[in-house]
Amino acid sequence: MRKKVLLSAVSLLFATAVSLPVAAQNIIPQPENISLMKGLFKLNKGTKIVTNLRGNDFKVLNQYTSEVLKHPLAYAKFPSKQGTFRLICKGTAQQAAQAMDSVRLQGYELEVTPKGITIQALTPTGLFYGLQTVRQLEKDGQIACVKVKDTPRFAYRGLMIDCSRHFWTKDFLKKQIDAMAYFKLDRFHWHLTDGGGWRMEVKKYPRLTDEGSYRTQSGWTKWWMDNDRKYCHKNTPGAYGGYYTQEDIKEIVRYAASRHIEVIPEIEMPGHSDEVVYAYPELSCTGKPYTQSDLCVGKEATYTFMENVLKETMALFPSKYIHIGGDEAERRTWKTCPDCQKIMKENNLKDVAELQSHFTHRMEVFLNNHGRKLLGWDEIMEGKLAPNAAVMSWRGTEAGIEAATSKHHVVMAPQQFYYLNMYQDNPMEQPKAQGGYTRLDKTYNYEPIPAEYKGSNLEKYMDGVQACVWTEFIAEPSHLEYMLYPRLLALAETGWTKKRTGYDNFRKRAVVNVERLKRAGYNAFDLSKEKGSRMESRSVTLHEALNKPVTYLGRYAGKYRAEGDSTLTNGLRGDWGYLEGRWQGFIDSTGVDVVVDMGQVTDIRDVRVDFMHLYESVIYTPVTIELMVSDNGKDFKTIDTVSPGIKSSEDYLVYPYKWKGDAKGRYVRVKALSREKDAWIFTDEIIVNKIERSCGKG
Ligand code: ACM
Ligand code: ZN
Repeated sequence: MRKKVLLSAVSLLFATAVSLPVAAQNIIPQPENISLMKGLFKLNKGTKIVTNLRGNDFKVLNQYTSEVLKHPLAYAKFPSKQGTFRLICKGTAQQAAQAMDSVRLQGYELEVTPKGITIQALTPTGLFYGLQTVRQLEKDGQIACVKVKDTPRFAYRGLMIDCSRHFWTKDFLKKQIDAMAYFKLDRFHWHLTDGGGWRMEVKKYPRLTDEGSYRTQSGWTKWWMDNDRKYCHKNTPGAYGGYYTQEDIKEIVRYAASRHIEVIPEIEMPGHSDEVVYAYPELSCTGKPYTQSDLCVGKEATYTFMENVLKETMALFPSKYIHIGGDEAERRTWKTCPDCQKIMKENNLKDVAELQSHFTHRMEVFLNNHGRKLLGWDEIMEGKLAPNAAVMSWRGTEAGIEAATSKHHVVMAPQQFYYLNMYQDNPMEQPKAQGGYTRLDKTYNYEPIPAEYKGSNLEKYMDGVQACVWTEFIAEPSHLEYMLYPRLLALAETGWTKKRTGYDNFRKRAVVNVERLKRAGYNAFDLSKEKGSRMESRSVTLHEALNKPVTYLGRYAGKYRAEGDSTLTNGLRGDWGYLEGRWQGFIDSTGVDVVVDMGQVTDIRDVRVDFMHLYESVIYTPVTIELMVSDNGKDFKTIDTVSPGIKSSEDYLVYPYKWKGDAKGRYVRVKALSREKDAWIFTDEIIVNKIERSCGKG
């Protein structure tokens, strides 16, 4: 009988979950201050949860505890004296309204004794977080006795989901919002518009959803990359896509708000607007869809259109920030468009970057006049940053640091750490993802405020951190969850925990939480089966050309310079991704053309060079690789030429060029030609040995 009571005691994890043996040590994000005490509190059906919250706050929390914890709330004027599970709010309504932007107001104190649970906070948000900690402490209806004092490090702890490249149902989004709440995230950045399809009903412009929300097929590679791109009317048989009605949006906003998560909409402008240009071609420079992704920023009609869209957006989303995108505008057609050129002349704008700034400034004025703040990707800093704009730093961390230094609020979302669409393990064994390699430890170890910035404007203007998941190559809900978890947990800890205890400690807790997520029906990546980094990258490769000087007959690209001229003989081989500074990238028509000076005439028996191949980043295995030697550095003799024959459409591989033979020379030249113009070649080391090595692993 007793057993039955225990089993019917509700799992506090998720409504559908089976409770798991998770000890207090496994909380993510780790609380600021936690003391484990002796004993357990036993939760059962009869446990009465009382609170002094009133009105809407009571209603919202009651609905949450009733649905998720299966325990309705009871009102008590003085809960400290009643009930066994007490939620005591000590602050004012004004403080409650400010909680999203204040770490202090999001804090809570929790005490669990064998007799009861008490959570105290200044705001309902704080109480909610205390409740999440209780949920994490629970095991089979029993809660470890603890004392916790906790406040977050940053007020902004976000997740962006791209709902344009693939469309995600409301239920799926709610499920992820539940997990966000559980790990104390508080901003859902909803990427609602992009070339993949427009996803928000706009009453004034129905063609956005009638024409711009559906496409002829789901698969991104074929539809977008192979230039088979066609949008279609929503009633076309077999059309892929969808959109959220305004009622759907209100439902998501409400659902998130009841979990103390603010939804920030993103309406992309003026780039990434292919679908808008399709639905309303008159808003482009050329008037022709499929020929540009940008809106025409010279036409007044574009401003009117976007202001009307933003009006409806603001009516649906109460968030302080409205995200206007601003990234990766092509700015190509603006250079010849008479309307764009006219605006540039009239406003004395020196280039198209300034033209984009001009557009962004006007959008900012409009948003500010409606009591909102503009948030945009870091490209909005090019030209001139709008005076009150906040910046989301994605192309690394530098833009965020620069924006904060000039007193603009920033959210750090650097792609190399926080883009969860990147591979998290050996790409050759993983479901298709995007080309970087962002292992869990990399996400975890990113520190948004490096030591040298303590006390600086970076600290002052840093709102917080955000993970993003772009869904070009993610079409299935299970795949998206696989990319999110557990890396999202690492971000949650960085966003919340002031004194992080290091990756090893975090990883142990993440393993437990992955199990927990799986039991709750989330398809998390199985951390216990992680293979880890590319073997070759784990130690220095010793070889005869190590530290020998390299002459570049063709240049590497500045953006992918890695360690510069020493990269190809420094013994450091690349990991699975090309963004970590070990792979060197070449885009010039000369491809790779490098000469290693061995210092003296040397026996050359074994040469190896790896090339990365990553289709969607236009990084291809070279079409030919030529190996040459020379005694004088001028007259080269070709000793090998190969054509690897790798199809450019191969998703991902590392092509291992190898030559074995018997040659002599002081200079070793490797020349690798690109398959096509504007395709990249990436390589990481020229390995030369005087004797044949049995393997290329150093
Ligand atoms: C972005 O990844 N283009 C923001
Ligand atoms: Zn134009």
